Order: sequence, then structure tokens, then C-alpha cells
Amino acid sequence: RIVYVNGEWMPEADAKISVFDRGFQFADSIYEITAVLGGKLIDYHGHAQRLSRSLTALGIPVPVSEEHMLALHRQAIARNGVEEGLVYLQVSRGVQDRDFMFGADLSPTFVIFTQSKKVLDNPKWKTGISVITMPDGRWVNRQIKTVQLLYSSLAKMEAAKAGADDAIFIEDGFITEASSSNVHIVTREGTLITRQLSNALLHGITRGSILDLARQAGVPVEERRFTLDEARNAAEIFITSATAFVMPVVRLDGEPVGEGVPGPVSGRFLQLYIQDRIA
Ligand code: PDD
Repeated sequence: RIVYVNGEWMPEADAKISVFDRGFQFADSIYEITAVLGGKLIDYHGHAQRLSRSLTALGIPVPVSEEHMLALHRQAIARNGVEEGLVYLQVSRGVQDRDFMFGADLSPTFVIFTQSKKVLDNPKWKTGISVITMPDGRWVNRQIKTVQLLYSSLAKMEAAKAGADDAIFIEDGFITEASSSNVHIVTREGTLITRQLSNALLHGITRGSILDLARQAGVPVEERRFTLDEARNAAEIFITSATAFVMPVVRLDGEPVGEGVPGPVSGRFLQLYIQDRIA
């Protein structure tokens, strides 16, 4: 692969980051992931805006202009011949001798790479996934897309050990989100419920797109937090992310969700998303 590091494109084997990078030592770093289909970026604008918000929240300078950022994404796709997959981008505060306190004058470390992999026709869309629940042990500023991903990484490992596909997180009895996606439920009356935006969850770009599509389609929407019990009694549960799009959840802590198979509403949203953003 050809990767981008601080203004230069190079083979991945030649890419080097300092051992004193604050991204490495303090997870003082943010990232974005944008899906690619047919060589084109999906929902790019939302991801670019969230990138700026994350950087601003941490006081890390935005490394390049908006136009340049888009050009770099397109170059990453072109240089690597990505038809289907994703563009990954990471910006850390920069390099400094190890110290909890950071200086004001660091230059950010800026990395881009691509992954070519299948995104469409995900076989799990047909079967749905199983999830287990666990306490949300992450920090409280989850609206910032930092690379503090250890809790989520361990959660996915624990889910796999339990024979499940993923983990969803519970805080004060309410679902926050899943380990790397947002969680939504559909009530037996057909209302889509998704947690309102706050610092408790990442403001998913796919979540926003699905809400727009739901409203356009006349589906009743409630943005509010919902309990694990409401999820247990829901007709459908699904998760959304840039890489899974709309993924039905068919088992929750070993119990079937609704009919125990992917439901019609999540199927419809997946179709709408693919039509609207891709076709
Ligand atoms: N994860 N919540 C969390 C904790 C996430 O990590 C993600 C995305 C989302 C969904 O956001 P979006 O729709 O903007 O992708 C919600 C990415 C895909 C990842 O870390 O791999």
C-alpha cells in the first residue's frame, strides 16, 4: 500500500512515526473512517466536518484546508486503486519528549491509509448479528473520535469469547452505543428510537443519514435515550457505522430480538441508504 505521512506518499514499509508521538504515548489523537464504493467516498462531507469538530475539541490544529483534505482522500483512493473499502485518517497532536503537559507549538502528525475490502453484500446483513451487553467503561467525551479504543477492542474480544459478534454498552440502565457503531431500536408500533446527541456517544455520520432518510420516508422518529429493557422488547434492533451501514441485531445477550431474524425496517433503511448514498 501507498500511505500518506505528514505531506508525503510512500510505501507502507517506509512510513515512520516517532516513538515520542503523543498519539502513541497518550492516545492524544483523533481519527476518521470513510467508506469507499466504486472508488467514491460515501458521506464524505459529514466525516470531514466531524474531523474538524474532534480536532477543535482537543485544540489540535486542522492540518490542511478543506479542499486539500478532500484531494488527499481522492489521491489515497487513486494511488491504491481502491474500488471498495475505506480511507482511514489519523491526526495526533505531534511529537514531544514524554510529558503529560503538552506545548502549544507542536505540529500534528497526519497519516492516511486505505483498506481494500468488501463493504457491499455483507453476508451478515442477511443473518444479522448477535450482541452481548456490558457496562460502558469508556471516558465521558465519546463525541470526540479519539483513538482511545482499548475498551472497545477488549469488549469485542469478550464478545467473541462469548460466541457473539459485538458488544453494546450500558450506562445507568440506558444503551449508549455499540463498541464501534450507534444503536437504534424499532418499537412494535414502528417508531425508530435513537439516542439523542450528547457527549455519551459518537455522533455517527451514518446515524445522521439514517435519521434523515427515516424522516423523509415518514417513519416516526424519537431521539431520546432508551433502556436495555426497551431494547429487549423492541421489534428490531440495528446498528449503524461507516463500514457496516445498517446491520440488524438478531440476538441480545443470547435472547432473540423480535422474530430473531433481520426485520423489515432495518432492511428498508439499508436499501434506502444504499440507494441514496451510493447508487
Ligand atoms: N466506528 N460509535 C462508535 C463508538 C464508533 O466507533 C463508530 C464508528 C460509530 C459510527 O459512526 P459513523 O457512522 O460515523 O461511522 C459510532 C468506525 C467505523 C471504526 O472505528 O471502525
